[in-house]
Amino acid sequence: MSDNKATLTVGDKSWEFPVQSGSIGPDVIDIGALYKETGMFTYDPGFTSTASCQSDITYIDGDEGTLLYRGYPIDQLAEKGDFLETCYLLLYGHLPTKAEKLDFDTRVTRHTMVHEQMSKFYTGYRRDSHPMAVMVGIVGALSAFYHDSTDISDPHQRMVATLRLVAKMPTMAAMAYKYSIGQPFVYPRNDLGYAGNFLHMCFSVPAEEYKVNPILARAMDRIFILHADHEQNASTSTVRLAGSSGANPFGCIAAGIACLWGPAHGGANEAALNMLHEIGTVDRVEEYVAKAKDKDDPFRLMGFGHRVYKNYDPRARIMQKTCHEVLNELGIENDPTLEVAMELEKIALNDQYFVEKKLYPNIDFYSGITLRALGFPADMFTVLFAVARSVGWIAQWKEMVEDPSQRIGRPRQLFTGATQRDYVNISER
Ligand code: CMC
Repeated sequence: MSDNKATLTVGDKSWEFPVQSGSIGPDVIDIGALYKETGMFTYDPGFTSTASCQSDITYIDGDEGTLLYRGYPIDQLAEKGDFLETCYLLLYGHLPTKAEKLDFDTRVTRHTMVHEQMSKFYTGYRRDSHPMAVMVGIVGALSAFYHDSTDISDPHQRMVATLRLVAKMPTMAAMAYKYSIGQPFVYPRNDLGYAGNFLHMCFSVPAEEYKVNPILARAMDRIFILHADHEQNASTSTVRLAGSSGANPFGCIAAGIACLWGPAHGGANEAALNMLHEIGTVDRVEEYVAKAKDKDDPFRLMGFGHRVYKNYDPRARIMQKTCHEVLNELGIENDPTLEVAMELEKIALNDQYFVEKKLYPNIDFYSGITLRALGFPADMFTVLFAVARSVGWIAQWKEMVEDPSQRIGRPRQLFTGATQRDYVNISER
């Protein structure tokens, strides 16, 4: 805590509140005692100026376009590491030694299968269900299948729940995909890496051999790294808020998945790809940029803008590179969607409207094209985001549960409805 204090003056009264400094980033005014001392709340819809917790996990500098997991820049982790190493880092706070990595990878790998009875759960869904609808239910159902890791006061159970979640998410996501296309579920293969195994469970069929392409598996792994955590975004805050009541981790993650599904959050990659398809050809880009700028038109450029990044999203750069690598490997030349995306980016980055509002491409701008090239239909995009983000959610949930100052989250409101009035019988209304 710094010695600085912030003074709040309302009318002729003043109060002082402590100012706290983190290791990096803006200071915060600690207003925990505000209501007790002043009888007033703060009002901040959308939490644009509110730090909801103290965290050691992920740091974003939106003006600089920096993203650090436990201090390590995202581009270094994506270039040099793998997803399970990133999981270890997010969960334990340091990069693993060789022995720690081997042990962690083995422990995750040994939890990849799901209880066989869970496959019956899938068949209860309509076969044309959106896979995110399936994921919300299936992940919530883990608490029914794995009771023995739902006691949140037991550190061992917390860690088992964490490993189970990281290990089973790809299996459950692949099962949701297989169910949606009417193919048999594919069991995990523990001789494959995390991303390779996921591709195997999604794209292999019992009728023929499937060979994992290492370049595509590496691209998938990198996509997982890029999406692994993003500090207190909407879905992570949802997980924390759900968890603050003492709810079990699987239920909390299911709540996070429901939140992620929204088009302003994880659903944006699907929306971005749909938009690029709708634009169709490079010559129509100007028309859509004009629509996005028109105040009377609700249209927005999907995959553009971010609440925190007021600079190029650092994940978008790596995503763009990965997109080119995947298309090259698959021999996809002159992809019209990629051409539209690059033209759109070029025009928007030089347009006064986007420059002034600091609207840059975000991670979702190129991820849809990449995921489609990897073979995923658009309704699986947010599911893949959920697979990757699970480790971030559970790391943030663990941090919260292990914080001794943690209390149930309970925001207040500025009430603008009717004041007290007397009930009127229906015959007299
Ligand atoms: N296209 C056109 N104008 C935009 C866009 C856009 N994509 N995004 C923001 N603006 C304008 C907006 O109209 C507003 O203008 P004005 O000040 O004149 O009213 C201004 O920029 C600020 O926008 P905002 O909605 O107040 O900003 P926000 O921080 O509340 O919203 C956002 C952030 C990501 C929801 C928004 O930029 C957006 O809707 N983008 C498209 C959806 C998208 O790509 N979402 C993925 C986010 S990254 C993945 C993730 O973290 O989940």
